[in-house]
Amino acid sequence: MLIEIPRRTEIFGSVEINELQRVLKLDSGGFTNPRVKDIPFEELKKVLRRLAIVIPVKDESTQLLDGVLRSIPFDCSIIVVSNSERDKHDLYKMEKDIITKLHDLTQQEILGIHQKDPDLGFAFYEAGYDYLLDKDNLVRDGKSEGMIAGMLLAKSLGKDFIGFADADNYVPGSVREYVLDYAAGFCMSNSPYSMVRLHWRYKPKVVEDRLYFKRWGRVSESTNKYLNLLLSTNTRFETGVVLTGNAGEHALTAKLADIMSFSTDFSIEPYHFVYLFDVFGQKAKEILDLDVASSGIEIFQIETLNPHIHEEKGEKHIKNMLLSSLSTIYHSDLCNDYVKSKVLDELKELLETGEMPGENIVMPPIGRIDANKFTKLLEGQSETFVKFEQGAIEREVENEE
Ligand code: GDD
Repeated sequence: MLIEIPRRTEIFGSVEINELQRVLKLDSGGFTNPRVKDIPFEELKKVLRRLAIVIPVKDESTQLLDGVLRSIPFDCSIIVVSNSERDKHDLYKMEKDIITKLHDLTQQEILGIHQKDPDLGFAFYEAGYDYLLDKDNLVRDGKSEGMIAGMLLAKSLGKDFIGFADADNYVPGSVREYVLDYAAGFCMSNSPYSMVRLHWRYKPKVVEDRLYFKRWGRVSESTNKYLNLLLSTNTRFETGVVLTGNAGEHALTAKLADIMSFSTDFSIEPYHFVYLFDVFGQKAKEILDLDVASSGIEIFQIETLNPHIHEEKGEKHIKNMLLSSLSTIYHSDLCNDYVKSKVLDELKELLETGEMPGENIVMPPIGRIDANKFTKLLEGQSETFVKFEQGAIEREVENEE
């Protein structure tokens, strides 16, 4: 892959945010240049073997899920965490059939579980991690809640890198690129605590019967603006470095996943920044982790080559996402009265007069959970858990020898 080298890196305490990098070519020929980095496919493949892709899914078309599953490179493991309907129609059964068939045909490692499985709730309860459980000890609804379950399963497979891909993508080829972009980010990283966040080149919409290649989504534009304002007001140097505030498509090292707190549902992605700024930024009250402070946390923002075409979920969903994204910023330790007033202005149509944005639920780090023990509680117990191991690895090792 040929990818631009970031021109600038913004440093805020232990957090290093690299400017947006464009993917110039998905395949490259080893041409080196001071402005671009050539990453041979073999290097990407080494990362793919250490990467699990978590796919959160809730009531998506099975055709879309099927395409996304088939697009994930073979060397990665796939983890599907579903919160799909099971009552009227058992959609999860269909999802499980797709997973099983995919494994039968490809031998790729693939795991699946349903978010509302009582055994999943029990495994969290036993781990002493009840922050995402409801009163019946079931995992709450929410994309973030599903992602946390996925991260623990990825850790139990011994993976060093964990990435996410939404299940409602119409273009399987773009999902394949996202995964390669994650691998490229980790190839460039020097810290064990790093994160790769994708910015889609275009998000096409139909306008007057024709495709319009939009660059920015409404929610992302606002989230980026206020995350940058948060940074600018604290460093006193204006910046526009954050361009991936809502990046659903992102990946992080398992070591970084261990030390992050996670905000609920769709506020998880903007909260990554808020958490890192609050806890590891230059105004952090104390140094919580010396290893993190000395290694630094690297954030790569990569602009994809492919556009993103996905299922639209409607105006209410967009408004909720905007509200929960900006709430994370409003409640940051670093948010002063000026930024608060700007956020309130932005949200005035969504809040009653005098109403403040509610604080999102935040779930503490998962690092102290024993992921193997957690997964053992599911194996052989849970009705919805499936685990298919990779079948073709021996042949590959033989070939390498
Ligand atoms: N397991 C699980 N549990 N998955 C869920 C849940 C849940 O409660 N709710 C939604 N999902 C799945 C969806 O099926 C989809 O695969 C993915 O999470 C994203 O949800 P969408 O409803 O499609 O979100 P979106 O497309 O509006 O927003 C996405 O992109 C944003 C950036 O533009 C999300 O990834 C956002 O988090 C992201 O900020």
